[in-house]
Amino acid sequence: MLDKIKALQEEIEQISVSVKEEVEDLRIKYISKKGLISQLFEEFKTVSPEQKKEVGQAINTLKQFALDKINQLKETFESNEQESTGLDLTMPGEAIKLGSRHPLSIVRNEIVDIFACLGFTVAEGPEIEDDWHVFSALNFPPEHPARDMQDTFFIEKDPDILLRTHTSSVQIRVMEKTQPPIRAIFPGRVFRNEAISARSHCIFHQIEGLYVAENVSFADLKQTLLYFARELFGEKSQIRLRPSYFPFTEPSAEMDVSCSICGGEGCNVCKYTGWLEILGCGMVDPNVLEACNIDSKKYTGFAFGMGIERIAMLKFGIKDIRHFFENDVRFLKQFESAQ
Ligand code: PHE
Repeated sequence: MLDKIKALQEEIEQISVSVKEEVEDLRIKYISKKGLISQLFEEFKTVSPEQKKEVGQAINTLKQFALDKINQLKETFESNEQESTGLDLTMPGEAIKLGSRHPLSIVRNEIVDIFACLGFTVAEGPEIEDDWHVFSALNFPPEHPARDMQDTFFIEKDPDILLRTHTSSVQIRVMEKTQPPIRAIFPGRVFRNEAISARSHCIFHQIEGLYVAENVSFADLKQTLLYFARELFGEKSQIRLRPSYFPFTEPSAEMDVSCSICGGEGCNVCKYTGWLEILGCGMVDPNVLEACNIDSKKYTGFAFGMGIERIAMLKFGIKDIRHFFENDVRFLKQFESAQ
């Protein structure tokens, strides 16, 4: 029996392993319940009483030896692993990098905050719309070019399902559900079938405003827009309204704000006019109120709509609209301090 123990001891001494999994195999082979050393303990029962002391000690020494060897092998693998992954668990942690808001979100939040001060709430509507909410209820005549495939992305024809081309559709959704007074703004994404270039994209964002109540006048519209322009572009800003046309407002206008870059002197951003075109607006056409079951004899209202990209480009001096949609981190992280 002693010879057997000696032989096992020599065997264990010789062991070398190349992969971590083999260490576990060794443990099973020698010291698990059915392992070789455990078998020695079984045999030990048959050893004669005079030999018991010597053999017992030898088995125990062998077992300890095997345990030490296996632990030592295990440790070499664990430290090797650490070296090979280059991990040093004692190093201090890396600081977590904070993200930044998208410039479009920064500008949208700023505009929402300005109108919140005037009591405007925020509402949203679906991006996939029907003809009624995008065109018909907004007084678009049947032959209007916006109803053409060239301008609008249609998903289905007859009945028409399409991607909204403006947030004015949310005016209809809100007026269908609520009777005046209504004072709300609607931010959202819109889609137009346009060639993508530095100045235009097939996706962009708008903020629509709607105020419907008794005795709302064009003067209210003008004063609201002046307040807005001064909050957004600075208190020295001036506005001017140029007559325009939209099917859903009458009269309609386009608003320019004095160029905040040159202060109205003329520069390449305002193309030496001193003015920047910002939004479309007007008094809600009575046909639109009636389409939403609002009494146009009792109520009047104004509406306006602006492109967020354009305002963000002016505010941050961004020259290409495509930057907003590429999500290039080198572009986005420049807005870390903006909000
Ligand atoms: N919907 C118009 C556009 O997309 C903007 C607008 C909104 C004009 C509300 C007047 C009133 O150009």
